[in-house]
Amino acid sequence: MRRTFHPLSPFALVLLFVLLLAPSAAAEVLDGKEIVRLEAKGHSCAITFDDGPGRHTARLLDLLRERGIPATFFVLGDHVEKAPDLVRRMVQEGHEVNNHSYDHPAFRKLNAAEQQREMERTERILNNLGIHPRFFRPPYGSYNADTVRDAAKDNLILALWSVDSLDWKYRTVRAIEGHVVPRSPGSARGIFLFHDIHRTTVDAMPDVLDKLARQGCRFVTLSQWLDSRPQGAKEHSGQEEPQQTGDPAKTQKEPESNPPGPF
Ligand code: NI
Repeated sequence: MRRTFHPLSPFALVLLFVLLLAPSAAAEVLDGKEIVRLEAKGHSCAITFDDGPGRHTARLLDLLRERGIPATFFVLGDHVEKAPDLVRRMVQEGHEVNNHSYDHPAFRKLNAAEQQREMERTERILNNLGIHPRFFRPPYGSYNADTVRDAAKDNLILALWSVDSLDWKYRTVRAIEGHVVPRSPGSARGIFLFHDIHRTTVDAMPDVLDKLARQGCRFVTLSQWLDSRPQGAKEHSGQEEPQQTGDPAKTQKEPESNPPGPF
């Protein structure tokens, strides 16, 4: 039987309702597509370091301090327990600290309860240091609707990245630079992904940061990056103390595929 689609059918009304609601219910999931949309009008650069703190983190903090550059750290609860003083130092020196799970599992391989345990274990560890993350970054960029829901429950915005240094894969300063410093002047922007657990990454940072600055980067924390979103973009409830509060993810979406590599 041929079905006709009447404009006033219940289905059409539901669809209309969903479309009308859509703009205000935009996701608080900073996936690659959303980041590119937000960065299109700005030049700010959020430099993020995952998987620490580690043995090279103190040296990284030294060189960030020398340059007055704020960074954002997505830490593992497991590593925070071993080096809480480094994490306290991050906050004291103006960096932002966020949640990257307890011991770096691929969230899509965990059930909802397991995902929540991973997330909340690190939340508790950070809360005990007086740190209240605003963002959660799933290891490997691997997440599903359960992750988005769990993050929302914990008032965490799920955040990925837009510029991948591939520093876990190519352990040379030249390769890291090649992946993150754009050739055209003034075009550096986005959320940059690095890992402070690798010596080569920290070795590369002085050159990388200087070159990014020359290519137009204005360095900000991830909270500052999100709160300075361009005119016309969705309003975000600005927080005076980005470390202390979070916005729940408001909708759920599944990524089409996981980005490759051990992030
Ligand atoms: Ni990671």
